[in-house]
Amino acid sequence: MRLQSVFLFCILSLGQILVNECVESIEDYWDKRFKDEGKIWGELPSRTTQYALDLFRSANVESILIPGSGYGRHTKFFSACGFDVTGIEISSVACNLASGFDPLSRFHNASVLDMAVDTNRYDAICCFNVLHLFRENDRCVFIQQCDNKLNKGGLMFFTVFSEKESTFGKGREVERNTFESRPGRPAHYFTEADLKAHFVKYDAVDMRIVEDPEDHGGKPHTHTLRYICVRA
Ligand SMILES: C[S@@+](CC[C@H](N)C(=O)[O-])C[C@H]1O[C@@H](n2cnc3c(N)ncnc32)[C@H](O)[C@@H]1O
Repeated sequence: MRLQSVFLFCILSLGQILVNECVESIEDYWDKRFKDEGKIWGELPSRTTQYALDLFRSANVESILIPGSGYGRHTKFFSACGFDVTGIEISSVACNLASGFDPLSRFHNASVLDMAVDTNRYDAICCFNVLHLFRENDRCVFIQQCDNKLNKGGLMFFTVFSEKESTFGKGREVERNTFESRPGRPAHYFTEADLKAHFVKYDAVDMRIVEDPEDHGGKPHTHTLRYICVRA
């Protein structure tokens, strides 16, 4: 009986080691995508950036931090509009693409969960489709990291997946409204109340649900996103 338990324990431990080995790191996943697909979402920014631009201009924003900046389609939009822009991005492949595509902005190859590599503070944060890539604890860490990078009264503008996305409910539900299509690759889908709750300690400036068309991978499709803008 005892021998059987030891055997079972060894098999389970080996299984867990194999699962862990098979889970691709986030850096590797994104590096591979950017290597294979280049400027995945095209060179133009999401249409949600127009809302951010209007809000930033009316608040006299001069400097912007863009966490999860990818290959720079949003940094380029804002740097071309005359803002002083910095991007933080985990994929070194994306950072290299971004430096060539948007030479006016600065890029740091680092995780948004620890942005200590950059000691500057900014008038605004603009983050497109990154916050929903984390589980609850990391979403809180990320928002706090962003808060730490803001000048007093700075703005935070986040665009995220809503629960109206066509992929909502697909994969294994690892936390409420968070689904993994593959182990270690969560996507969280925000209801209006949930998004408000994430930013409850800040002053709400604007919030909306928006249709955002994309055309990549040979398949035109439309995302149903939410954005929120708050003042710290
Ligand atoms: C859905 S893509 C959006 C990219 C960019 N915002 C855009 O719309 O072009 C998510 C981005 O977040 C980056 N990312 C994912 N996890 C990250 C992390 N922990 N730290 C920094 N960047 C991360 C990915 O490499 C990828 O560039």
